[in-house]
Amino acid sequence: MARRTSSKPKNRKASAKAPRRPSQQQNLKSPPLAKHAKNRAPGLPAPGKHFLSDKVGHFTESVIREMTRQAMLHNAVNLAQGFPDFPAPAEIKQAAQQAVAADVNQYAITWGAKNLRNAIARQMAVWQKITVDPEKEITVCCGSTEAMISTLLAVCNTGDEVVIFEPFYENYGPDSVLSGAKPKFVKLRPPATDGGEWTFDPKELRRAFDKHTKAIILNTPNNPTGKVFTRSELELIRDLCVEFDVLAITDEIYEHILYEGTEHISMVSLEGMRERTVTINGMSKTYSVTGWRVGWAVAPEKITNAIRKVHDFLTVGAPAPLQEAGAAALSLPPEYYAKLAEGYRVRRDHLMPSLTAAGFKCFRPRGAYYVMTDISTFGFTDDISFAKYLVQEIGVACVPASSFYRDPRDGAKQVRFAFCKKPETLDEAARRLARLTH
Ligand SMILES: Cc1ncc(COP(=O)(O)O)c(C=O)c1O
Repeated sequence: MARRTSSKPKNRKASAKAPRRPSQQQNLKSPPLAKHAKNRAPGLPAPGKHFLSDKVGHFTESVIREMTRQAMLHNAVNLAQGFPDFPAPAEIKQAAQQAVAADVNQYAITWGAKNLRNAIARQMAVWQKITVDPEKEITVCCGSTEAMISTLLAVCNTGDEVVIFEPFYENYGPDSVLSGAKPKFVKLRPPATDGGEWTFDPKELRRAFDKHTKAIILNTPNNPTGKVFTRSELELIRDLCVEFDVLAITDEIYEHILYEGTEHISMVSLEGMRERTVTINGMSKTYSVTGWRVGWAVAPEKITNAIRKVHDFLTVGAPAPLQEAGAAALSLPPEYYAKLAEGYRVRRDHLMPSLTAAGFKCFRPRGAYYVMTDISTFGFTDDISFAKYLVQEIGVACVPASSFYRDPRDGAKQVRFAFCKKPETLDEAARRLARLTH
């Protein structure tokens, strides 16, 4: 299992005592190659430059994706990675098939197929009452993942600071490092009472803002906590953004997955934020197509121009036929979204009692499709050893929560479960979890 602790790339040196391979050196005709071989011990690179960027030494592989590999290895029920194991809507699969049949097989316009951009602008007007120019303010990317990194690369300079609430969606840390920015973390604290909310300390948030702050990354509804930021919380963040001249980059990928009448409010819809917000969203979660890799960033024209440049040179464009299917998806009727949220409420209420019965303390999510839990009762030293035990011995994969925190100790007593699964998958997980003792 990947460990989260970052390690600096090592400048590996060949051991002086290691045996050489004379036959290989003798056969080399090129003087540089012969010199290289002479200095090199078998199986080791020559001393000198190391070939890795220092940046990659500052983060590890994704723990979430690693847990999926662990689940496959141990034939475990995968409640780790957030992807549905049930079919996507028939209408949008047909739209994708039709687009391929109609030979929509070549590069789409770099910043997105016109049909999809028009559909995104139309829906922003319906859902958020925001008028967006599809020609100048939308960039379609390879998933919201690419929209986030393209945005950060487009707006950050080395030394800029980016404020991130923690626990955070794993990608934001590496995204900041890759863009040269320094992440500054602000804690979300778990609910003190059953059914309570994750909260943050406004004073701690204020302390994170200063003249170096370029942006705040906000994810609502939130992964992994299930928190949905309230209007008053968003207004408080808005006031800081305005006071310190900071950009809000909001990941709203779970916008339609809400429970108990909770309202999703887009930061861009708040007074004063239109010119300083990048809104990121995508098809993955709303239409159960995480493998299609279609997402987008909506931003004021000047910022969009910069995002489009980065996006172009990173990927040229998102999959063309799937963008056409995206236009069809965004035209589904309002009932689709109501049914989606209700389906996830049923799944949440299916999984949570089995977790509670097995000994987990659950933090009830208000949105998104994860439940964070406290594992104190099981007596493990940390979340990694617990997750290892769970996947290997019990046959259920979860995500150790230390991967959502800068300091792994903060997540040592928590793990996250995804419930975007079929009832039979959740039943099987419940059967296996019942074997846990505490
Ligand atoms: C908060 C958040 N943002 C982004 C993503 C990835 O989205 P996409 O598939 O559009 O790249 C995920 C996936 O789990 C997520 O939880």
